[in-house]
Amino acid sequence: MNQFKTPLYDAVTDYIGKERAPLFIPAHKLGRAIHPKWKAFAGDAIFKMDLCELEGLDDLHNAGDVIAEAQKLAADAWGADESFFLINGTSSGIVAAICSAAAPGEKIIVPRNAHKSVVSGLIISGAEPVYAMPDIWQEKGLIGGMPVAELARLLAENPDAKAVFAVSPSYHGVCSDIKSLADKAHERGCVFIADEAHGNHVYFHESLPDGALTLGADISCQSTHKMSGSLTQSSILHVRGNRIDTGRLRANLRLMQSTSPSYLLMSSLDLARSHIATAGHDIFAKLLPLIEDAKERLRATPGIDVLGEELVGNHAIYAYEPTRIILSARRFGIEGYELYETLRRDYGVEAEFGDYFYVICVLGLGTTEQDLIRLTDAVSDIASKRSASASVANAEPLIWKEALPPLPPMAVTPREAHFAETARIPWNEAKGKISAELIAPYPPGIPALCPGEYITDEMWEYLDTLRRAKRHMQGPGDSELATVAVLG
Ligand SMILES: Cc1ncc(COP(=O)(O)O)c(C=O)c1O
Repeated sequence: MNQFKTPLYDAVTDYIGKERAPLFIPAHKLGRAIHPKWKAFAGDAIFKMDLCELEGLDDLHNAGDVIAEAQKLAADAWGADESFFLINGTSSGIVAAICSAAAPGEKIIVPRNAHKSVVSGLIISGAEPVYAMPDIWQEKGLIGGMPVAELARLLAENPDAKAVFAVSPSYHGVCSDIKSLADKAHERGCVFIADEAHGNHVYFHESLPDGALTLGADISCQSTHKMSGSLTQSSILHVRGNRIDTGRLRANLRLMQSTSPSYLLMSSLDLARSHIATAGHDIFAKLLPLIEDAKERLRATPGIDVLGEELVGNHAIYAYEPTRIILSARRFGIEGYELYETLRRDYGVEAEFGDYFYVICVLGLGTTEQDLIRLTDAVSDIASKRSASASVANAEPLIWKEALPPLPPMAVTPREAHFAETARIPWNEAKGKISAELIAPYPPGIPALCPGEYITDEMWEYLDTLRRAKRHMQGPGDSELATVAVLG
């Protein structure tokens, strides 16, 4: 197909060219009533594009015209059979995919470290999760890939499972052996859903790892906004093959998405797809060597570690996605949180995230050589100051020694836990109760407790140690874990 075409964007701009009395929603009427401050900053044109399902602009929920054409072009670009625009992020696609693959009470195998939208999917679908444990790389403070043997074991123990969910690449760039995982799932008649929130750009350069759709996924949920250049919140769900009932999927997408989808978001998907499909290869051809150079400079900086290709082959890591720089100054005893904050505050380098060990810099189509130089210069300056300071030069390196205990048994499904009566109780009284919340300490960022699971003695002790050490906790209403929500 001609990937230079942008049918939806063209229809929107054509519409704007026509003189009409705008007696339709939204109330700002082609930008007339937008705050003057905002218009002075942003100009007029962008607001004129904020249209609704007018003549010639198609309807996302029943696409048959320009949106359908734009979605077909997206399917062609990513090698899917059918693609669906999402205006509520990949989160909405993940929920719709889970609802389409597993009905209430049916089993779905999900990685324990999946994004929280998977828990939303479990709550809304009523599916029963079987949690698969990724391979944890304790010394590196890193979650490795999903071992194929772990999936094979769970499939054998749960022959009634209907679907398998996988995340690849992970936030830290770790790719699992998606082909073998998908093959295992298919052998058992399961639908294979891939979360490619962080990996939708990999389809556009041969030096990047293979994409999940190429490797056998039936559904791929992709945050086009994160890695392929569309506006925040705009994503695409792709389908390949015939294992998934697309009628049911459409119904679930209607359930998850607004009846007033933004034409700005959808046009941005149309344009981003055209851009990455036509220019992406050249952009990555120039960018990837710059990223590798930056990583080399960082690796040459005393005390700094950078994740890369050397991870492959260990801890179920099948490939490494290189368009992110994950660095650590843990050998100086500096936590990733602190390094992130220093870079932001003192050097104007705003990374994506800092965790206990690492700072995660997400790069992409718009990254420049200057951005990379600014990062490497800043890190070099921080490292030389640390090395020069006698008090910190010999700091103890950070280690992560608390191993995650065995996963607690599930008392009720996440859906039952979500709708149950709950009470917030002191943490000290929580042993033996059923957690109503997800609690994921960093590191490793794997939920110790999911909604509906027993707070076993050993899990309580583990979380108590981390709570006292003031480790970051994702998920609980009380991040200090002085209290916890349990089923009442
Ligand atoms: C692994 C993963 N999956 C899914 C999502 C959800 O994507 P979105 O923000 O597009 O809803 C995220 C967001 O951070 C993510 O990191």
